[in-house]
Amino acid sequence: MTLMRLIYASHPFGFDDLALSNILKTAQRHNAAANISGTLICREDLYLQLLEGDRADVDALYEKIKRDDRHADAKILVQEATSQRLFPMWAMRHDPAKSWMWTAEQVSQGAVENATRDEIMAVFVRLVAEQPGHLSGLPTTCPASRAKL
Ligand SMILES: Cc1cc2nc3c(=O)[nH]c(=O)nc-3n(C[C@H](O)[C@H](O)[C@H](O)COP(=O)(O)O)c2cc1C
Repeated sequence: MTLMRLIYASHPFGFDDLALSNILKTAQRHNAAANISGTLICREDLYLQLLEGDRADVDALYEKIKRDDRHADAKILVQEATSQRLFPMWAMRHDPAKSWMWTAEQVSQGAVENATRDEIMAVFVRLVAEQPGHLSGLPTTCPASRAKL
């Protein structure tokens, strides 16, 4: 198995609480079965999703997601092999966009699509670090070791 991480950005189409809740329900059910984890940053002008899992499973899921008519203009920003999951405990976490990410104006001017790989990764690494109970330095792939402390 090759563990890989894929991050894409897209523009929501018909964004509201119900649409989002439907996406998350499907994602959590399907991803848990496929051993895919990740998080979905979302607000009315932006989806920014991180998917991690076996390469074939993540590729197949992204092919399906990008054809979904609840968003448009999906663009891959990061696609790489990795040795460690950032969100091992989450079939699909829901992260409302935060003020420190981008303003609506920056998003409309393409700030997300034009961000570098490191800038995009920094957003997700910061989300991980902000998780309640996060202890920096502990391997995030090993929740059992965290539970013992
Ligand atoms: C922004 C966005 C993110 C999505 N994320 C996932 C996901 O992580 N996992 C998933 O199974 N479906 C996700 N979906 C839904 C899929 O596009 C698709 O509707 C779903 O997997 C059901 O596919 P099926 O009818 O072929 O089973 C997402 C859709 C959107 C618009």
